Amino acid sequence: MILPKACIFDLDGVIVDTVPAHYTAWKAMADEVGVPFDEEENENLKGVSRFDSMKHILSLGGIEKTNEEILAYTERKNEIYVEIISSMTPADILPGVVEFIDKLKANGIGIAIGSASKNTPTILKCVGLDKVFEVIVDGNQITKSKPNPEVFLKGAEQLGFLPQDCVVLEDAMSGVKAAKAGGMKCIGVGDPIVLSEADVVISDLTKVDIDFLKALYSNEELHQA
Ligand code: G6P
Ligand code: MG
Repeated sequence: MILPKACIFDLDGVIVDTVPAHYTAWKAMADEVGVPFDEEENENLKGVSRFDSMKHILSLGGIEKTNEEILAYTERKNEIYVEIISSMTPADILPGVVEFIDKLKANGIGIAIGSASKNTPTILKCVGLDKVFEVIVDGNQITKSKPNPEVFLKGAEQLGFLPQDCVVLEDAMSGVKAAKAGGMKCIGVGDPIVLSEADVVISDLTKVDIDFLKALYSNEELHQA
């Protein structure tokens, strides 16, 4: 095979930079329960569902809460988060995303979203990408958080391709693990140390094009851009 049949994109941190908005909202919840929380710790929440993220914050402080109480925190976190993201526009799409999508389409390569976020439809609409992807699998359709590969396996299945024919683009440790557990190639987007389990790591989507995908599939040596 020379090229993958499809690319499955994570949303938060790959298509749009919602990471600071998630951080602001989680920080407010962490402050409320009295748990120290910083951007480094926030790294562990990337790709992780809302409920599991709140459970993680509570576990940092050794705090026990009922599922109902955890749900109440996640609802409040989401109110803060949605308030921030609702002002997003196409200008908030990360560099290289639109150009790369155009190249994929021109080469007949399928495109899908594979995100844990239940806010995926809202975000895609705000940034004007709601009619662009052939398949969207998001937090409303999955039961298992990344690093479980469910979200990407569903994406591949709905695209009509085998996992090994799909490349995942991910900015989260948990997402890279999910892609690899699903038998897919994975391009990490971000820090090569954090994303060391990816097949290759790039700083942003301006670094990827069709030749890059060819090299990834022919196992040529890829430079870490
Ligand atoms: C993405 C983000 C996580 C977030 C999760 C659920 O995977 O990286 O930080 O917790 O989606 O997002 P939601 O919008 O449903 O709260
Ligand atoms: Mg992400």
